[in-house]
Formats: sequence, structure tokens, C-alpha cells
Amino acid sequence: MEIKIQSLEQIHEAAHEFVAAMGDNTVFAFYGKMGAGKTTFIKAVCEELGVSDVISSPTFAIVNEYRSDEGGELIYHFDFYRIKKLSEVYDMGYEDYFFSGALCFIEWPELVEELLPGDAVKVTIEEQTDGSRLITL
Ligand SMILES: Nc1ncnc2c1ncn2[C@@H]1O[C@H](COP(=O)(O)OP(=O)(O)OP(=O)(O)O)[C@@H](O)[C@H]1O
Ligand SMILES: [Mg+2]
Repeated sequence: MEIKIQSLEQIHEAAHEFVAAMGDNTVFAFYGKMGAGKTTFIKAVCEELGVSDVISSPTFAIVNEYRSDEGGELIYHFDFYRIKKLSEVYDMGYEDYFFSGALCFIEWPELVEELLPGDAVKVTIEEQTDGSRLITL
């Protein structure tokens, strides 16, 4: 399916649609160029899921952990952009996250492609010429 984000004002509507489409899946791999809007959209989705923590890209760590206020549900947000070797990903114990049953939102999944669970949902974000974003999952 496709979700269009016409402008930032509509991102919460788009996040709402995304959450409705998530089903029982837990691992979501967000593909898209630098600046496409991965972090921004993941933040909106986390807010939609009831997280009120400040959400930003995991700059100093590979993974950030959030908890929703309501159900106390755990959400892991990964950014693999800075990894240099897969051994860093093994060392952080990626399996404990990916196979935990908790929600995992992943930026730059192409850098850990071979480690992604087979049932990871591929999501792409593309900036259109008019500045809107098109999300495909
Ligand atoms: N849906 C949107 N509409 C308009 N602008 C957006 C949208 N999503 C993100 N932006 C803007 O684009 C810029 C980059 O967004 P963001 O940091 O989310 O990209 P990213 O895909 O996570 O990039 P990176 O690969 O560097 O992590 C930000 O300035 C943000 O405000
Ligand atoms: Mg980002």
C-alpha cells in the first residue's frame, strides 16, 4: 500500500494510517535516501503509538528505546548508518531486539540486510519533486 504525506502538517494522519496497516508485524525496515524523512516519520509513528519521550535519531548509539505511556509497550529505533562492520551489530546483540517481539523501526536497513528477520516489513520513503513524501509498504 501507499501513504502520501503531502506536507509535515499531515504527518500524523499518515502515521495513523501506517499504524492501522502494521498488523501483527514487529520489524519494520525503512529504506530511503538521506533526508527522505525516515526519522521524522518514525517519530510520528511512535507518537501515534503513545510515546511521549523525545524521539531523535540514535546518534551516539545504534539503538534508542522508547516506551509508550499507555500499554508500556517497548519500541526500538535503530539507525545503522554509522556502522562500519557487521561485527558491531553482532556485538550489540541485535537478535535480542529483532526477535524480541517488540516493535523495531530500522533506518538504513540495507547495511544489515542479511541480518533482518525474513518477516521484516519493507517500507520505502521517497521525496517527490513537490516535496511531498510517498511511503510504500
Ligand atoms: N513528510 C515530510 N514533509 C516535509 N519535510 C519533511 C518530511 N519528512 C522529513 N522532512 C524534512 O526533511 C529533513 C530530513 O528528515 P529526516 O531527518 O527525517 O530524514 P532521514 O531520512 O531520517 O535522514 P537520514 O538518512 O540522514 O537519517 C528534515 O529537515 C525534515 O524536517
Ligand atoms: Mg534519520
